[in-house]
Amino acid sequence: MNIDQVNICYMDLEDIDDVIIIENLCFTIPWSRESFIQEISNSQLTRYICAKVNDKMIGYAGMWKICDEGHITNIAVHPEYRRKGIGNKLVKGLISIAQKENLYKITLEVRKSNNAAQDLYARHGFRVEGLRKKYYSDNGEDAIIMWKKND
Ligand SMILES: CC(C)(COP(=O)(O)OP(=O)(O)OC[C@H]1O[C@@H](n2cnc3c(N)ncnc32)[C@H](O)[C@@H]1OP(=O)(O)O)[C@@H](O)C(=O)NCCC(=O)NCCS
Repeated sequence: MNIDQVNICYMDLEDIDDVIIIENLCFTIPWSRESFIQEISNSQLTRYICAKVNDKMIGYAGMWKICDEGHITNIAVHPEYRRKGIGNKLVKGLISIAQKENLYKITLEVRKSNNAAQDLYARHGFRVEGLRKKYYSDNGEDAIIMWKKND
């Protein structure tokens, strides 16, 4: 697979079966199908995008729009397609939506142990600005709060 073959498009209801497969592979507390349906149905508040190769779903990411801020809710790449630049492409996709929609700051929470995701965000200008103690209910892990501010 060449990264130029990867298309970024908005997620719609027909994508959710494939999203759920990746979600379950990627997270210890996966979101339900109903959560994704609610998220993408609430287009005033949310923006969800997918990465596809030849129409095959290989990753996705989402963001809430809150006033002039973007709050990244999730990003996931199918385990068989990692380290090929798809995470980069999804983060760039969200940043570009934020710019178009005048969201001047973007934030997210990430597990303290998740070095891969922290590295990915750092590459795109996100900086650590805080900590939420024992944020994750499965293992009591802390969340690191990162922000990217208009530059
Ligand atoms: C985090 C995740 C989305 C990265 O996706 P990806 O497609 O593999 O990322 P990319 O190939 O675009 O990598 C971009 C950069 O991210 C960082 N990165 C990605 N995976 C990494 C790893 N395993 N270890 C360290 N850094 C990593 C690197 O800086 C990398 O650049 P490089 O390949 O030039 O070194 C993917 O690992 C994933 O889906 N993880 C499970 C879900 C998750 O943790 N989501 C984040 C929730 S906050």
